Amino acid sequence: MRISVIGCGYLGAVHAACMAKLGHDVVGIDVDERKIRDLSAARAPFYEPGLEELLTDVQATGRLSFTTDMSAAAGNTVHFICVGTPQKKGENAADMTYVDAATSGILPYLAPGDVVVGKSTVPVGTAARLARLVQDHEPGAHLVWNPEFLREGHAVSDTLSPDRFVYGVPDGSEDHPAVTILDEVYAAPLSAGTLRLVTDHPTAELVKAAANSFLATKISFINAMAEVCEATGADVTRLADAIGMDDRIGRKFLNAGIGFGGGCLPKDIRAFMARAGELGADQALTFLREVDAINMRRRTRVVELTRELCGGSLLGHRVTVLGAAFKPESDDVRDSPALSIAAQLQLQGAVVTVTDPKALDNAAKRFPELQYEPDLDKAIAGADTLLLLTEWQQYKELDPFEVSNGVAGLRILDGRNVLEAAKWRAAGWHYRGLGRP
Ligand code: UDX
Repeated sequence: MRISVIGCGYLGAVHAACMAKLGHDVVGIDVDERKIRDLSAARAPFYEPGLEELLTDVQATGRLSFTTDMSAAAGNTVHFICVGTPQKKGENAADMTYVDAATSGILPYLAPGDVVVGKSTVPVGTAARLARLVQDHEPGAHLVWNPEFLREGHAVSDTLSPDRFVYGVPDGSEDHPAVTILDEVYAAPLSAGTLRLVTDHPTAELVKAAANSFLATKISFINAMAEVCEATGADVTRLADAIGMDDRIGRKFLNAGIGFGGGCLPKDIRAFMARAGELGADQALTFLREVDAINMRRRTRVVELTRELCGGSLLGHRVTVLGAAFKPESDDVRDSPALSIAAQLQLQGAVVTVTDPKALDNAAKRFPELQYEPDLDKAIAGADTLLLLTEWQQYKELDPFEVSNGVAGLRILDGRNVLEAAKWRAAGWHYRGLGRP
């Protein structure tokens, strides 16, 4: 199958490489020349485990190329739209500029039988609108919405073997010609047992919004329980273990801590609320405002807890923040709770040093006023208080006795509840978790 992938960011670069891995001839197209230069040289423009090896591997086969020239899409049958839909400045709604530009850009190169496949997370109603554009331009072409559920840090395996495919086709019918074409694109994972569901356009768009809202709700639910645990002296991690043993609830996504961030969950629940408002269904999603509020409250809570840990004042207190990325195995700092906490602490008078194995360059672009130190030992040296805010493996494995040698004070706030409290306390540390006694 000859495939174009428009947009080579966190989603598109991985998608292009994975489609080539599945045996297709793929061209990745992006307006960002630097990104295209990197990808053409098999360098990943961001950190994603396994991506660089995959790029090297598939580029050697000659099946994958990258360009800024949209005309490279001519002659291809399937055109994936993988551009971003960030939050609009000053509004909750999604900014559709890039999706609209990518779709308009592909129109001149469409031929009868081609399929434009939207993967970006979009407000419900977008697919129908774009399908009309495609049809007006090339009545023989189709538009399918095929939402992407990949997690950063696991993007390659999530793309090569996802847990399900959702195809949103205009009539919602299995017999739609685009279904056969997508089945051919995804033949390998389908034959390996990946489930696939055919729906209409709005259902496919809503599946993604609903899935992310559910995940965000699960995290905020356990963080709300953490607040109650803090008020009662209970332990939220044991509570999560216990309720998670119920199959209907499940233990995944019940880790209380500093809350969710990243380029998806925060902006997706806001865009979903904004869209529901436009559709007159805003009441249905009022609860997501609370989900968002609980999540943002975690950041304030950590600042307050750090102040307590520091004896009541942050002024001049040396705080080292372990982790800048919004989650481990990623260099993505979009809406990172760790960085937002670091910036708040600094504003309130603490002397903050941030360390992270991968995300410091991106962090420095967002918050140039913070001090960054890539070397963990140097970052920790002389600190009065440590804050573990992104659960990178190397931070989870820290030895409290070894760390004691470098720091000025034995205080640690475990913002992800991943350290063994008893071990740290036994080594003389003043340990605080979130929602734990
Ligand atoms: C998410 C969805 O998981 C994915 O399906 C969708 O396609 C895009 O959005 P991602 O943003 O990569 O993926 O990260 P995810 O692993 O979902 O984590 C999101 C945030 O929630 C992170 O900040 C993470 O630290 C936080 N989180 C996750 C918790 O605070 N507690 C948990 O139990 C799980």
